[in-house]
Formats: sequence, structure tokens, C-alpha cells
Amino acid sequence: MDKLVINGGGRLKGPVEISGAKNAALPIMAASLLAEGPSTIRRVPELADIRSMTDLLGDLGVSVTRSADGALRLNVEDEGCHHAQYDRVRKMRASVCVLGPLLAKRRAARVSMPGGCAIGSRPVDLHLRGLEALGAEIDLDGGDIVAHAKKLTGAEVFLGGPFGSTVLGTANVMMAAALAEGQTMIESAACEPEIADLANYLNAMGARISGAGTPRLVIDGVEELTGVEHEVIPDRIEVGTFMIAAALTNGEITLRHARIDHMMAVVDKLREIGVVIEREDGGAVVSSARRLEPVDVTTQPYPGFPTDLQAQLMSLLCLADGNSAVTEKVFPDRFMHVAELLRMGANIRKEGPTTIVTGVKRLIGAPVMASDLRASAALVLAGLVARGTTTVQRVYHIDRGYEHIESKLRSIGADIQRVSD
Ligand code: EPZ
Repeated sequence: MDKLVINGGGRLKGPVEISGAKNAALPIMAASLLAEGPSTIRRVPELADIRSMTDLLGDLGVSVTRSADGALRLNVEDEGCHHAQYDRVRKMRASVCVLGPLLAKRRAARVSMPGGCAIGSRPVDLHLRGLEALGAEIDLDGGDIVAHAKKLTGAEVFLGGPFGSTVLGTANVMMAAALAEGQTMIESAACEPEIADLANYLNAMGARISGAGTPRLVIDGVEELTGVEHEVIPDRIEVGTFMIAAALTNGEITLRHARIDHMMAVVDKLREIGVVIEREDGGAVVSSARRLEPVDVTTQPYPGFPTDLQAQLMSLLCLADGNSAVTEKVFPDRFMHVAELLRMGANIRKEGPTTIVTGVKRLIGAPVMASDLRASAALVLAGLVARGTTTVQRVYHIDRGYEHIESKLRSIGADIQRVSD
């Protein structure tokens, strides 16, 4: 198993090219199940999760090939199978977003029910409720969601849950409604840019979706969707992670191919901390003031501060000058990184869904264990600034969502190596 060995202390400086967004690419790949004819998707990052989706789509009769320029070509060749098996879904929870397309196109889907994961319990009740509203009959059998629909019909669907809307639930219902008969209105839809990107892809294929990026989506069903070319939006979580790397190391990182307009809550919070973010065409230059101010931050659905950057921000706040409060309102148990940061000398106290982070003078390198994708990014960030050597174990987590992480960091001056056990 690989680990990352980081010698902290270096100042990071230089340009970083941001990859396409994993969380946009995954549902877009699933949407190719709906298409007649091939689609070409550009800027799909090379990641473990993308390979998992490729394997799953392969099981479902879709050929997926990567061309020399990095684009993915997806073409449905066989519509005979509608089963997403447990072994696939357990590896990657986003597999659940084949449910809506299978149901809409093949009129049947059998998708293993995703379990919880290191970031907490992850129900799919809202996905199922939305699809039922469109006319699907859904049962649970042997741990699988079994869904049938002779016909899907447009309906009014409310997707608000106890923690706000649902990103992949919105994707599932939107994809199913694109081929339903009549009009669907989704109220309390997820507003994330990745959902808007999916809607843009579907519209290019011939769908009639309006309101993408707002909490109300109106979808007029069409009879057929045709494969097209599409470019995935830049990964805003990768952008935020590199912004925090610049702030932590007193560095100056130029982010290229970044959509700063997708991350105003992050920019606002980092500026409050004292990070200097200068927007420029197609990206930003990020540098840091020597003194980091403490802040209070609450994660929320978009356009609020993203839960997928909570762990990384906490690494930064570990070195702020005072007490910060970090409250998690999307996944209240997403704090597995806290215990590992404590091993590096952080001062963090957890009280329910809030953690109080008291800034310390320095973090100290240590062997630490990654528990999930974003937690592992937080530990790498902490390692970049810690005194001495940090070894991040279970690095396969980071490979799920950060493309070429160590070579990107090395290119701007980090001392980081991947080592195989
Ligand atoms: C997406 O997961 C992302 N995954 C996650 O990214 C991200 O953390 C999350 O949205 C929130 O932004 C992908 O896009 C592939 P949700 P998703 O359904 O769609 C509750 C990463 O690190 N809920 O929006 O599965 C749920 O428990 C990750 O890249 C219900 O109650 O998340 C949570 O509290 C991991 N019922 C909240 O809603 C449901 O049916 C938001 O979850 C569905 C969700």
C-alpha cells in the first residue's frame, strides 16, 4: 500500500493547472447511459473514482475509452443489463447515480444500496422518493434497490432533507425526468455547479431543463437524447485545497483554469483569515499574510462553504492566531481528521457538530492515517507546514479525488514522495 512522505516547511510558489471536477464528471458519465450515439467528455480527471465508474458502466454495456488528448468517449453498446452490483457500489457511493438513467432508459434498475462511509450515514431516501413521484415502483431486495417503471411521468418533487438538498439525488431525479412524459418541477434542488454542469450536458444532448444552479428546476421531458461533446468544469475543491496550501506555507500559487465564481464562500472566508486572493483571467493568484486570523465557519449546501473543504480549512485554522469554530451542517460526523491532527500537535476540541480549533505555533510531523478523501488532503496540507516528517498512510483515499497530487505539489516546491510499503 502506498503512503505519502512529506518533509514540511517549504514555501510553495508557482503555477498549478486545475483538473476537471470529479463530482461533475461522475454523474455526467452516468448520464451517457441515456444517450443515443457516442459522447465525448473532455477534462475528465484520471482518478480511482473515474476508473470505478468506467468499470461500472462497462458492466452496464457502455464502452468507455480515453483518447490520446485525455477525452473520454462513451458509447452505449448493449442495453441488456441493469444491475449495479454490490462490489462496484461499495467501492464508490457515487455509483448510485446510474439509478435514474437506468430507470429512464431501460425501464428497470437494480442498484446495490450504498452503505455508510467514513463521513457518516448516507441515506438515499430522497433519491427514491423523487423517482417514486415520477412513477417508479421501488423495492428493496437482498440489499439492492430494485426499481421498475413502465412509464415515467413528470411530477412535482421536493428534494429537501434534514441537511438541505441532495446533490446526487438531484442528479438522479433530473436525469430520469429528462426522458419522462410531461413536465417535472424539482423544488429544493441542489444548486451545486456540478449539477448545473450536468444540466448543461443534458441540454446539449437535447433535454429541456431550466433553472439549473437554482433551487427550482423545471424539466420538460423529451423522447430521445443524443450523445454530444462536453467539457467538465474545473474542480472547485481542488482549487480550494491549493488556496489553503498557499496560505499555510506563506506561498504564492497561481491557479490556472479555475472558476473562482464557483467558490465565493471559500474566497470570502479565506480573505477573512488574511489570505490574499487576486483574481485573474481564468484563475487567481493566492498568497498569504504572515498572520492568520481565526474565523467561525459553518458548512452548508452550495453556495455556502462546502463540506468537502471543511477538513482542509481546519488544517489552516490549526495555525491561526486564536480560537475558531468549525460547524458541520452537511455531514455532522465528518470529523475523522480531528484525531489525526491532534497527533500532529493541533489543539482541537469537539462539541457535537462543532469543533473549536485553538491555533498553535506549529504542527509537528507524525505518522497519520487518512480516513477519507478530504481528510487525507487535510493531513497532506498539515504535513506541508509541519516541522519534520509526516507520513500519510492509506493514500488510496487521496487517489480517489486528487489528480497527480504529489507531482502537482512537487512542481511548486513541496518535498513530498510516494513510497510503496
Ligand atoms: C455529494 O455527495 C458529493 N459526491 C460529496 O462529495 C459531497 O460531500 C456531498 O455531495 C455534499 O456536497 C459526489 O458528488 C460524487 P448529498 P451526495 O446527497 O450527493 C443527506 C467528496 O469528498 N441526505 O448532497 O451523496 C445526507 O446524509 C464527496 O468528493 C439524505 O438525508 O451528498 C447529507 O447529510 C464525498 N437523504 C446531506 O443530505 C438522501 O436521500 C447531503 O448529501 C440523500 C442525502
